[in-house]
Amino acid sequence: MENFYHQLLENNKDWVAEKLAINPHYFEKLAAGQKPPVLWIGCSDSRVPANEIIGAEPGEVFVHRNIANMVIHSDMNMLSVLDYAVNVLEVKHIIVCGHYGCGGIQTAMKNQHIGIIDNWIRHIKDVYRLNDDELNAIENEQDRFNRFVELNVKEQVNDLAKTSIVQKAWENGQELGIHGWVYGLNNGLIKDLKISMWDNSNLPYVYKLDF
Ligand code: CO
Repeated sequence: MENFYHQLLENNKDWVAEKLAINPHYFEKLAAGQKPPVLWIGCSDSRVPANEIIGAEPGEVFVHRNIANMVIHSDMNMLSVLDYAVNVLEVKHIIVCGHYGCGGIQTAMKNQHIGIIDNWIRHIKDVYRLNDDELNAIENEQDRFNRFVELNVKEQVNDLAKTSIVQKAWENGQELGIHGWVYGLNNGLIKDLKISMWDNSNLPYVYKLDF
């Protein structure tokens, strides 16, 4: 493991050399500023590297990752990233990307006590409860797990739409689409759940904010 650690620093030097070989001004250009068109909200899982799976270069994607790609309204970290992305960077798209085989989602289906993470996982259990008729009707456990992953992404997209940050951007006529995707660990492919929202028209009335 010590070797692996040192190798990371060596890899970095190689990467810099590769980039400079293609464009000697590569880092000067990046250092001048960022204007990414996309905010990515994904899972912390090491197998779902945001930029890599969508072929995006440094500077193209603003990234927030947490366990099970959650949008939790009291999460200052997520809210700060969202506020900066929408109001300062003025991203055009926010993508919530879950993934099949997500350990956070799997844990939420079970009853094991782990530790402080139980409190994070509880938010995912709430998504199960909201959809328990549909999920409990799925007999095959793997199928139920996969569907739960999709329903969780759907709920997080809805939670994004409920935020004052996103609603205010829409109210101001800012071009902003929010989208739900699921990545397949076993084939590398992304499934677009086709639940994109460009305004708050599909939001239940009680969540609509007047500005
Ligand atoms: Co995950």
